[in-house]
Amino acid sequence: MLNLALLALVHLASATNPISTPNGVYNSSTTPSSFPWNTYNYCNAPHVNAEHYNRPSVEGAELVYMNVMFRHHKRTPDNLYPNENGLNPAAGWNCSNFIQFNYGGGTAHVNHQVVIPPSHPFLTQIWNGTCDQGTLTQEGLEDAIKHGRDFWSVYHDTVGFLPTVNPKDLYIRTSVSDRTYQVAGGLLYGMNPAYAGEAFTVYTQPTNIDSLVPDYDCPLADNLRNAYQSVPAWTDHLNANAALQARLGETTGTSNLSAWTSWYDHYFDTFTSRTCAGHPLPCNATTGACVSEQDAATVFAIGDFEYNYIWHSAQNASNYTALTFGVMFSELAVNFKSFQAGSERYKARLYVGHDGSMIRLASGLGLGKIATLRWPALGSEMAMEVWKANGKNFVRVMHEGTPVQTLSWVPLTDFISLLESQVPPDLYNTCMDV
Ligand SMILES: *[C@@H]1O[C@H](CO)[C@@H](O)[C@H](O)[C@H]1NC(C)=O
Ligand SMILES: *[C@@H]1O[C@H](CO)[C@@H](O)[C@H](O)[C@H]1NC(C)=O
Ligand SMILES: *[C@@H]1O[C@H](CO)[C@@H](O)[C@H](O)[C@H]1NC(C)=O
Ligand SMILES: *[C@@H]1O[C@H](CO)[C@@H](O)[C@H](O)[C@H]1NC(C)=O
Ligand SMILES: *[C@@H]1O[C@H](CO)[C@@H](O)[C@H](O)[C@H]1NC(C)=O
Ligand SMILES: *[C@@H]1O[C@H](CO)[C@@H](O)[C@H](O)[C@H]1NC(C)=O
Ligand SMILES: *[C@@H]1O[C@H](CO)[C@@H](O)[C@H](O)[C@H]1NC(C)=O
Repeated sequence: MLNLALLALVHLASATNPISTPNGVYNSSTTPSSFPWNTYNYCNAPHVNAEHYNRPSVEGAELVYMNVMFRHHKRTPDNLYPNENGLNPAAGWNCSNFIQFNYGGGTAHVNHQVVIPPSHPFLTQIWNGTCDQGTLTQEGLEDAIKHGRDFWSVYHDTVGFLPTVNPKDLYIRTSVSDRTYQVAGGLLYGMNPAYAGEAFTVYTQPTNIDSLVPDYDCPLADNLRNAYQSVPAWTDHLNANAALQARLGETTGTSNLSAWTSWYDHYFDTFTSRTCAGHPLPCNATTGACVSEQDAATVFAIGDFEYNYIWHSAQNASNYTALTFGVMFSELAVNFKSFQAGSERYKARLYVGHDGSMIRLASGLGLGKIATLRWPALGSEMAMEVWKANGKNFVRVMHEGTPVQTLSWVPLTDFISLLESQVPPDLYNTCMDV
């Protein structure tokens, strides 16, 4: 069993290193009952649920509209080591335990299963088993179903806001990744098991202009980020942890590969995907060296530091976030404005995105000013509720199931202004004219 939960705050590496071991769970979707229910759990974020949900304390307040953004649930690693096969248990990863459908309406219900033929000359580059990279696992699908059930326990059972799972009431947008479609299906099925096998349309944008991931080009934003990842505020943490990086590089065969050494993103992904799935940390079959729990815990802490730096605390990070998520902030503003104008035809809009969606949303809404931002956990949730009280509309934002201090009751107009403040003027030309 991996010993990664609730480690004490300990300063590592050196006195000038800003990285501390984080509090949280990284090895199970279930937060131990001895911990507060809303403890950070990277494998399965806390979210709105009937047991811990309170209506606003304003008398007569009625929920009238909402937008919610989620991150998908547990998946296989998105990043692969150069010699991936040797760093996994013999059985590898199993993705044949739920059916992966992809078919054209009105035709045969084609589904696909990944095969890895033993004679394939490039076998060293992939694990054994039946999984591609970045594939939602069965456990991830189960977490999505539970998430849908919890969502329903609040917005149907407790508040009575959503009467049925109805495409006329619910607009769902996802990215073009299978795992976001599958999580949307899991959420819907969790809301109403009668949806098993039913068709439900989710909406996507073309990959190259998708605002949810986000995936649209913004060279100005790239330049800003490159600049603030070239200054000591960033490079100090890489230098302070050089011994860690050398160790990880030797064990996983990634030494001197810039995708792995310029930040800890790939180690974070490849370690958490394993620990959340109950797999061991990578062990090098040749040398016998394994990534230690202590090193993994340090990587998790560095991941939090990097996410907070890139999307919130770096000089120009707020510009970067606004440039790269401005299109999405604009879409959200349009949604709330059309609700305000009485022209919104949906009761709720749900977005199933990625960690890059959640961190930008959190940063743009000002959450980084309340507490250091952490890497958005799997199943992370931001629910933006509109309540009507005394004839006026107010917004309450729930992050990971708990009201956001600064956004627990703000006039709808102010919330729309906050969203619009995150949309740089003339965004296309601003991005492109560099
Ligand atoms: C996760 O870590 C905790 C505490 O470090 C340990 O008690 C628990 O058994 C581990 N759980 C799993 C599923 O590995
Ligand atoms: C993967 O399976 C092959 C046999 O198909 C085996 O030779 C190899 O050792 C396995 N990989 C690992 C990491 O055990
Ligand atoms: C994968 O999971 C399915 C369903 O639980 C099981 O039938 C199958 O044997 C597993 N495959 C492997 C290779 O473990
Ligand atoms: C932030 O942007 C300004 C204006 O372009 C620039 O002068 C400054 O160096 C940037 N800061 C960092 C840390 O990149
Ligand atoms: C195991 O370690 C050696 C020495 O650092 C390295 O060359 C090799 O790539 C590693 N193996 C794997 C499977 O990454
Ligand atoms: C990585 O680069 C360092 C410094 O350039 C060098 O000493 C080391 O041998 C390199 N390691 C590998 C595995 O290429
Ligand atoms: C950053 O945003 C501020 C406020 O919107 C703006 O005044 C400034 O010009 C932007 N800086 C860069 C480098 O884009």
